[in-house]
Parts: sequence; structure tokens; C-alpha cells
Amino acid sequence: MTRLIGLQSNVFLAPMAGITDYPFRKLVASKGKVNLYSEMVAINAISRKNPKTYRIADVRNEPYPVIVQLVGNDPLLFAEAAKLVADLGAYSIDINMGCPVRKIVANESGSALMRDLPRAAKIIEATVKATPLKVSVKFRKGWDNNSINAVDFAKMCEENGASYITVHGRTRAQGYSGQADWNIIKQVKENVHIPVIGNGDITSVHSAQNMLEQTNVDGVMVARGALGNPWLPGQIHEFIKNGHLPEPVPVSEIKEALLQQLHDMVDFYGKEMAISISRKYVCWYSKNLRDAKKFRETYTRIYDYNLAIKTIEDYFSEREEEAKP
Ligand SMILES: Cc1cc2nc3c(=O)[nH]c(=O)nc-3n(C[C@H](O)[C@H](O)[C@H](O)COP(=O)(O)O)c2cc1C
Repeated sequence: MTRLIGLQSNVFLAPMAGITDYPFRKLVASKGKVNLYSEMVAINAISRKNPKTYRIADVRNEPYPVIVQLVGNDPLLFAEAAKLVADLGAYSIDINMGCPVRKIVANESGSALMRDLPRAAKIIEATVKATPLKVSVKFRKGWDNNSINAVDFAKMCEENGASYITVHGRTRAQGYSGQADWNIIKQVKENVHIPVIGNGDITSVHSAQNMLEQTNVDGVMVARGALGNPWLPGQIHEFIKNGHLPEPVPVSEIKEALLQQLHDMVDFYGKEMAISISRKYVCWYSKNLRDAKKFRETYTRIYDYNLAIKTIEDYFSEREEEAKP
């Protein structure tokens, strides 16, 4: 496997808006050696110095490398945003050319750029020129089944200076449903010289291994498989590198992870917002545990921080004898 632009691993935690914030990155980083992305950062907002967007992009205090992902449509603003995020501590810059969300696509950004190769090329070129940082691109199989162009798109990325690319094996029309097409990822890998990261449907160490074998990619990227399972990216790294199969995670460790994340979310967002965001994590971390439904219903009605901590502690402590299936 290719050593990726000096990064510490061939395993990537995917950029996920609303998920891969500082508290989640810190948690995943504490569980193993993997590469971490920011949430996507809108170039228009960061150029306007929007405080919320600045906060998302500011990774200066993190002790591990963070790849900051930019989304937008204007090459000049990309160049400006690239300089800004470089000053805010980005290890490298990724360009989002895969987001399927209507609002983003309506702005001719994200996966809409897969239908406009000249503009996509200008954006990559402008970003590469603007900063000494490495620039990567994340995109999909194509816009829809009638316009599958990942191979041509990959070549365009390479020609315009991308250091590596990530291919998500679904079309924009598929959104996040259906199976990811690993064959298109294999085709991309066969047609470019820069490293290729495969993305889509990696939910275990075995699926990661399968993707590496079937597509010959240089690295793998995990997205939804890490929701409620911050251990997975690190486990994949350990398996690929040293052949270690993961042990089941003890419930006590799940409790500690959730409490740590809640604590960091309070520091980052304040108590009220942290409790609100923590609800989805409580659902994910209690999956498959006894009386999870009742616990979630109780937790959803909690607004007090101390009560939130006590409810988590009580629920998980009672189940410490049970390993998470
Ligand atoms: C909640 C959520 C938010 C996402 N946000 C982003 C994003 O900001 N940038 C991006 O490039 N992809 C984003 N994605 C797509 C993922 O990075 C990944 O490409 C996709 O989920 C496929 O991988 P999977 O099958 O492992 O989930 C998001 C996905 C989810 C589920």
C-alpha cells in the first residue's frame, strides 16, 4: 500500500457534517491511529469570517493531523478559504465534490461538480496554487446511472494536482441508499497514479479487508460504520497493519467513551447544546443493550447536565457484565 502524503495510517474517518466535530475526532483518535477529517466547511461562510464556520475549521489545538474539507463552487473563494484553513491548522485540504444534499447541489457545489469538469478542474488548480498544503478530492461514482464518470473525473483530479482522491461508490441519485459499487473504485484505481481511497459500506474489519483485496485501493474510509462505534477505524488500522482481530468492546468502555464525549461536547458547545447533540450518541451507544428503548426515552427528556451524567452512569453500570454484541 502507498504511504499516503505522510499521513499516519491508511484508514480514514470520513468527513461527516454534524458528526466529525472536535469531540468525536478526539474520541476516535484516542482509540487508534487513523486519519481524521473535519466536517465540511463552506468556503462562502469562512470567507465572510462566519464565527461558527471558523470554529469548525479551527483545528490548531488538536495534537493529531486533521484534514479540513472545503465545499463550494468559486475557484477564487476556494483559494482564499484554503489560505484561511491553513492558518487555522489544517494538515491538508480536501475538496468536497460528492455531497448530494439539495441545498449544496443547488449552489452548483458538492456532487454537482461531477457534471461540470471544467469548473471542478479550476477549483482544484486554484486550491493547489493557493497553499503549500496537499489537496485531495472526494467524489462519487457519478451523478446518476446515466452519467457514471468517476474514472474521467479521477484523471481530471490527478491532472490538476490532487495528491490523492477518495471515491464513494454511489451516484448522487443514490444518496446513501443501495450498495456501494466497489467495481468503479477498482476501475479508478487502475486508471490513475495518485493514491486512491475507497469509500462505501465499510462496517467491519472484514469489509475493509475485502475492499482492499477487491479494489487494490491504497486506503479505506469509514463513515456510517463509525456512528456509535468510534473504535472501528482504529480496529481496522490494527487489523490491516498487524493482523489483530478486535475484541468485543466492554460496556464499561462504552460508558467511558460516551461520558468523555459528553464532557468534551460541553466544553465545545456549552451544556444545553451538548445534551441535545448527545441524544443521538446515546441511541447509538446503547444499541443492542438491554432495555435500550426505555433508557433512550428517559434520556430524551433530560435537560439537566448532572442528571444526564447520572442516567448514563446508572444505565451502563448496570450492564457492565454484558458485553456489547
Ligand atoms: C451524517 C453524514 C454526514 C456526511 N457529511 C459529509 C461531509 O460533510 N462531507 C463529505 O464529503 N461526505 C459526507 N458524508 C458522506 C460520507 O463521508 C461517506 O462518503 C458516505 O456516508 C459513504 O460511506 P459509508 O457507506 O461508509 O457510510 C456524510 C455522511 C453522513 C451519513
